[in-house]
Amino acid sequence: MAKVHYLDHPLLKHKITILRDIKTPTSEFRQVVKEIAVLEGYEALRSLPTRQAEIDTPVEHTIQPLVEGSKLCFVPILRAGLGMVDGFTELIPTAHVGHIGLYRDEITKEPHEYYCKLPYNLADLDVYLLDPMLATGGSANDAIKMLRAHGAKKLTFVCIIAAPEGVKAFTEANPDVPLYIGALDRELNENAYICPGLGDCGDRTFGTVGGGK
Ligand code: PRP
Ligand code: URA
Repeated sequence: MAKVHYLDHPLLKHKITILRDIKTPTSEFRQVVKEIAVLEGYEALRSLPTRQAEIDTPVEHTIQPLVEGSKLCFVPILRAGLGMVDGFTELIPTAHVGHIGLYRDEITKEPHEYYCKLPYNLADLDVYLLDPMLATGGSANDAIKMLRAHGAKKLTFVCIIAAPEGVKAFTEANPDVPLYIGALDRELNENAYICPGLGDCGDRTFGTVGGGK
């Protein structure tokens, strides 16, 4: 069964409340998504491999750990996942970044692929899939299928808000993929929006119409 990490730092909860608030303007929303990504990245990257490096301190020669950033790949699901990339690359500037474009059909709620650009050596990289919202789980499940089809073997999924329905669908389909969640919400509504949620994350990140109901 997939390992699900429910993150519970008070700073994370505080920032997610700011995202939920309908009064939060686009500029602040985008900034806070980035800050949340830093906090979640700090946890999700806890088991990063390191290599031993020989260095000199002002006092003596020593062997100390350094992170192998070039072995990582961050993959946002467009559009909303883009908001999390800067937070992750702030932590690991040398990581690769791939992109997967998916949108949910407004009627069926099924995800549709419109873009995919990934590093050629995905099989050699630890891949972190990024999307703020895990609702039905359809988008995350399709993105994981696309990553596997391109050779990805070691995968992790990081989201900000999840619905129980999405957690079930994701963990059943991907028992080998650890899942990091900033907040677990109550349920999906009849339009497959997360309740209480934050509305349409793509619209709120980029200031496009709606915001979601
Ligand atoms: C949102 C969100 C996820 C997806 C989650 O994207 O960013 O990708 O919905 O829903 P699911 O778990 O039911 O698949 P959306 O399709 O609205 O596209 P956008 O980011 O371009 O607005
Ligand atoms: N996508 C969003 O952006 N918000 C939801 O609540 C569900 C899917």
